[in-house]
Order: sequence, then structure tokens, then C-alpha cells
Amino acid sequence: MRTKVAIIGSGPAGLLLGQLLTGSGVDNVIVERQTREHVLGRIRAGVLEKGMVSLLERAGCDARLHKEGLIHEGFEIADNDRRIHIDLKKLTGGDTVTVYGQTEVTADLMAAREQGSAQTFYSASDVALHDFDGASPHVTFTVDGQAHRLDCDIIAGCDGYHGVSRQSLPERSRTLYERLYDFGWLGLLADVPPATQELVYSRNERGFALVSMRSPTRSRYYVQVDTSEKVENWGDDRFWDELRQRVPADVAEHVTTGPSIEKSIAQLRSFVCEPMRFGRLLLCGDAAHIVPPTGAKGLNLAASDIHYAFEAIRDFLDNAGDGALADYSVRALTRVWKAERFSWWMTSVLHNFKDHSGFERRLQQAEMDYIFGSERGRAALAENYVGLPY
Ligand code: APR
Ligand code: PHB
Repeated sequence: MRTKVAIIGSGPAGLLLGQLLTGSGVDNVIVERQTREHVLGRIRAGVLEKGMVSLLERAGCDARLHKEGLIHEGFEIADNDRRIHIDLKKLTGGDTVTVYGQTEVTADLMAAREQGSAQTFYSASDVALHDFDGASPHVTFTVDGQAHRLDCDIIAGCDGYHGVSRQSLPERSRTLYERLYDFGWLGLLADVPPATQELVYSRNERGFALVSMRSPTRSRYYVQVDTSEKVENWGDDRFWDELRQRVPADVAEHVTTGPSIEKSIAQLRSFVCEPMRFGRLLLCGDAAHIVPPTGAKGLNLAASDIHYAFEAIRDFLDNAGDGALADYSVRALTRVWKAERFSWWMTSVLHNFKDHSGFERRLQQAEMDYIFGSERGRAALAENYVGLPY
């Protein structure tokens, strides 16, 4: 088989790139390790920057997003007994974010792909990347016991943190940067009306909690937990009790409890692989970087990577030269590191750290005092939260 672009992974990054390429007449094939149903069953974040919305519009996958997505003009930070509203729209001169689950983004992109003729291989095993630093890049894999070889011009590694693409880079050619956190997020999804109209990032002596939502009838909540915690030790009642103790009383009063649809613990990590391009291999999304979810940047960084990758691939195919391919890694990493910084900062200010010294606790308090006391400080926060320009 031959295609122009072999895309590894059918998550948001791979599907979005596939749609943009198909829409531009560039042949592409997606090779995905899991089943279609497994991919669609993932519960992830739910805040879209305007850049992601624009890309979904460009990909022709925005109908349901505009029908069901919730435009949010701000959010709230609650720090023990004080609270402040971050008026995103006012502080950024009009920008907002859209609350719309990543699961829905994936479903919309997948449905659009299936309406076209672009090929997707699910349940692919033994996926391997070859000669991406040479003139005949290709991918081999097995489906239903049959071995396949896919020759291509470009390989887009959109296979996430645990994928094969980043691991295929020669160790001597890649530099990994990582910061681990001594806590995780226990998340719960339930078909109950949200407690608040906007998101509330709340912190007190018990720890961090996030009040979020998916729709007027579906809520998403998180509480900070120790890395040693197991989800089986958290029955729904224990979760609801802990959540209500970590948010302001009036928010707690409006929490409607109900049976969890999904409940899981995500470990928090900051991670970047440099470079994001090696010969004809481009790393995109979680394959290249991970952010703690506090800043809601994971999906949105995958989107900006795809924006840059799509431009680089088009330039390479149209002009038969490295051209924009050579710039992809620097362009993508410049925005990635700014989002890494913001996500690390939001995480550092809003969580309780077991190993914090007295000095670090005072710094944390000063960061919060600054946000509460400075509109310029809130404007900087808002600018990063809605998403820095591409
Ligand atoms: N071969 C083929 N596919 C693979 C392989 C492999 N060896 N390894 C992983 N995959 C698939 C996974 O099954 C998954 O469907 O690659 C896809 C990667 O998707 P994501 O992990 O969702 O990564 P990405 O598309 O970059 O989206 C980033 O997803 O996980 C969230 O928080 C993250 O919001 C962020 C977004
Ligand atoms: C979510 O709704 O899942 C969500 C929202 C904001 C975040 C993280 C997760 O910062």
C-alpha cells in the first residue's frame, strides 16, 4: 500500500490531521492500535480554545460543537474562604472558551472520516516505523493476523504518550524533559446537573477540587488525591463527601449527587520530547508532550501541533523540499513550552504539595494573593487560559 501521509493513532490529533489532509486532497491512512469502540470510550478533558474550534470548523466537524458546546466567558478560583471571578471575555478583549468533551470531538472527527473514503486500520498490532530518516519511510503492522506495509512520504506520530513513534527516535537524537507531581486527579462523570454555571477551581487545606461539566445534564468533577490512592477505595459517596468539603459552601449546596458513569485516577505529569521532527517523522500531541490537566491544555496543544504539522506537510508536498518541515519542531515547541509553563504554574498554585517547604508555601500564597490583587495578573492568566495565538 502507498499513501502520502501515514498517521499513527486515531485520537484527536490523528483524526484532526486526517480530516484536514483529506479536505485538502492529500491521501492519508490512519493506523490505530485499539478498536474504534475503545477510542470512542475514552473520557478526557472538555475545554476547547478558539484555535481548536477554528480547526474543527476548517475540518468541517463543527456542527454538533456549535449546537451543543457551551460558551464560557469566565471561571472562578476559590482559595479557602475567598473567591475571584476570572472574566476571560473582559480580560482578553472578547475571547472565550467552549466546554465540549474530548469524547465528542473524537466522535465528530471519526464520523466525518467514515463519511469519506480515507482508510483507517483499527486493532493494529506490531506497529513499527521504518526509514523515516531516509527516502522511503514506511510503516509495518498486523491486522487480523495479516501483515501490512504502508509506504508513505510522511509519518505523523499521533500515538500518544505510550505510543511507538517517540520511542522510534534514536535515543541519541532526543532529549526528554519531565516533572512528576506527588498527587493525581480522581475524576468522576455523572448524569446530574452541574453545580455551577462556570468552572470552579477550588483549593483549601484538604486539597484541590474542580467543578466542571459536559452539558446542562452531565457533570464532571475532580479531587486531588495522593499518587498511592486506588480508585476502588473511592465509592461514589466518599467522592461526593470529599468534593463538597473542598468547594465553597454555596457550591457544595448545589452539588447534585448521582451514580458515577466513569471514575478514574489520572497521574499528573509535565513532559516534553525534543525535537518533534526527525526526518520524515513528525510527533504531534501527547506523543511529544504531556501537561497536567489544570490548565486544560492537553487537547488544545494537540490542536496547535496539528495546525503546524498540516502547514508543514502541505508545504513539503507542494514544494518537494524540507522547507516548512524544518521549522515544524521549533514552531510547535515554542507554543508547547508556553503551555507547559502555564499548566505547571496553575498546578503549582492550586494544589497542596506534601514536600513543600515553608518558603514554598509562602510563595504559593503570594502567587494567589497576586492574582486576587491584580487585574493585570488576572489578564495574564486569562490570556493563557483562552489560548495563546498560533
Ligand atoms: N500504534 C497505533 N496506535 C497507537 C499506538 C501504536 N503503537 N500506541 C497508541 N496508539 C493510539 C492510542 O490507542 C490512541 O487512540 O494512539 C492514539 C493516541 O491518542 P491520544 O492519547 O488521545 O493522544 P492525542 O491524539 O495526542 O490527543 C491528546 O488526548 O489523552 C488526551 O489528555 C490528552 O487531551 C489530550 C489528548
Ligand atoms: C474537564 O471538564 O474535564 C476539565 C476542565 C478544565 C480543566 C481540566 C479538566 O482544567
